[in-house]
Amino acid sequence: MNNNIYTVFDKIKDRKEKEIYLKQRAKVIWFTGLSGSGKTTLASLLEKRLFELNYFCQILDGDNVRSGINKNLLFTDQDRVENIRRIAEVSKLFMNCGIILICAFISPTNDIRQMAKEIIGEDDFLEVFIDAPLEVCEQRDPKGLYKKARAGEIKNFTGVSAPFEAPQLPFLRVENTKPNIDETVKEMLKNILPEIKFDPLKVI
Ligand code: ADX
Repeated sequence: MNNNIYTVFDKIKDRKEKEIYLKQRAKVIWFTGLSGSGKTTLASLLEKRLFELNYFCQILDGDNVRSGINKNLLFTDQDRVENIRRIAEVSKLFMNCGIILICAFISPTNDIRQMAKEIIGEDDFLEVFIDAPLEVCEQRDPKGLYKKARAGEIKNFTGVSAPFEAPQLPFLRVENTKPNIDETVKEMLKNILPEIKFDPLKVI
């Protein structure tokens, strides 16, 4: 029995050192909302602004996750839980590297988002509800999926044949129906910046 337990975690430089290096506080900005609510669009606009301000981010969303690490998962309740569980674990690894995550997933239920929050840690989980009414999302229908869902060609489609529970007390609710999206991003940035701002006094 080895009492001198020296795990791989002891050998990895810790998050604080990496945050100091990157001059930022690592957080997970977690977008939740219906398909077509604008999560991915807002995530990329937010990343662009943050990058201009010298923040180092990574976006995780359906396109880069469900076509790669989670390509074996479908949209059953069970697979959605596993989808979000893996995403939350991966986010935690990025966060321990000092990186700011922008995660854009429907994450449809309170339980699923609670699980993500528990994996990531309450203090680091900034839940942002991208709020657009179902009728608006359905009208946008950027991928034609609502039409297919209404025709019964896609089963368990969120908002049509599977539930979406709006978060009651998110960190931020972003109404994404306004014509000027730049204003929406500005408002979002105003709320997020204080959370990720590097404060040497807090680190030491
Ligand atoms: S989640 O429910 O598991 O969080 P996720 O955000 O990864 O969903 O993926 C949602 C995207 O997958 C949608 O934007 C849509 O393009 C596509 N999609 C395909 N089938 C479904 C479905 N049954 N329900 C919701 N989205 C679906």
